Amino acid sequence: MIILAIETSCDETAISIISANGGFRNPKFKILSNIVASQIKIHSKWGGVVPHLAKREHERNLPTVLKRALKKAGFQIPKIDLNAVTVGPGLEPALWMGINFAKELAKKWEKALIGINHMEGHILSFLLPQKTEISNFKFLISKLFPAIALLVSGGHTELVLMKDWLKYKIIGQTRDDAAGEAFDKAAKMLGLSYPGGPVVAKLANSYQPSPADNRIKLPRPMLNSKDYDFSFSGLKTAMLYLLKDLKKKGLAVDNGLLKTQLCAEFQQAVIDTLIAKTIRAVKEFKIKTVILGGGVAANKELRKQFRRHKLNFFIPTKNFCTDNAAMIACAAYFRAFKKEFAVPSKLKANGNLKLK
Ligand code: KG4
Ligand code: ZN
Repeated sequence: MIILAIETSCDETAISIISANGGFRNPKFKILSNIVASQIKIHSKWGGVVPHLAKREHERNLPTVLKRALKKAGFQIPKIDLNAVTVGPGLEPALWMGINFAKELAKKWEKALIGINHMEGHILSFLLPQKTEISNFKFLISKLFPAIALLVSGGHTELVLMKDWLKYKIIGQTRDDAAGEAFDKAAKMLGLSYPGGPVVAKLANSYQPSPADNRIKLPRPMLNSKDYDFSFSGLKTAMLYLLKDLKKKGLAVDNGLLKTQLCAEFQQAVIDTLIAKTIRAVKEFKIKTVILGGGVAANKELRKQFRRHKLNFFIPTKNFCTDNAAMIACAAYFRAFKKEFAVPSKLKANGNLKLK
């Protein structure tokens, strides 16, 4: 099956064409093209994504991104079996751009159309081709469930229990900021650029601890709460007070070493909570597989520290952690098996779409 998918839920205009086979038992995907036009330069001035600018840029980018995706895949439209598009969650004006474009294409090319939940794309993105082949992938896939997916992106932090393919139950989520949002806000406080996650991570990873360093400790909110929820806004406030305190003591945060130390402590506070809650869920629900997805899953230290736990563990390669359309195509493959095709006129954007 050849699938063309469109993703415009936030600030990336993405189109991908993949070929898929193997069904639910042995799903295999080949990326024919995967184009992502980033709008970071436009939004970084504002320190976050501006919805009407995102909408304008998607409208501008979609025709060229489509041309590039078709050219890279190197074949003609008749070979495409199915069109897919993200319908939520995300910024509604941005989602609509992708949906309207997908509807027009499906009509013009006379193809079936499927609407996809962006978070389902993040969950299934681990199935997309890895740089390093997982040697016993087929065996591991056959022993996947029950699985738990930790979704960590700019808008979401969720622990999702999966008893089977496409069966989701959210057992925990953030009560305030998402993990990626927390990284972005911490970066802003430290005078770093948007998006904050990659910059904070880079500085954090360059930190070399020394006994002469100042004592810095940030809280791990809700680490010991009995549920599976998260909270990151307290961590952000704690960072703000810590910065004020350091300033009062005459310590300049512009000082490179102190900044790297703050980034390292912030990153570790986020990692500690994410890992602790996930591992607790693994024990309680007798989980066989842990899946990571979303932009924050690109975090090197998070990946490394998760891997220390002896688990059947899947994380997408970094380019499939952040927003892309290949993951939407991947989810569409499964939904096509269930014949969940859309009536194009009824396909709508839903900014708060939930996994179910
Ligand atoms: O999944 P994603 O690309 O978009 C959403 O669906 O939100 O996630 C973007 C988020 C941003 O908040 C960004 O700062 C964060 O992922 N992020 C990271 C890293 N790379 C991206 N956070 C921590 N470490 C990273 N290496
Ligand atoms: Zn995302």
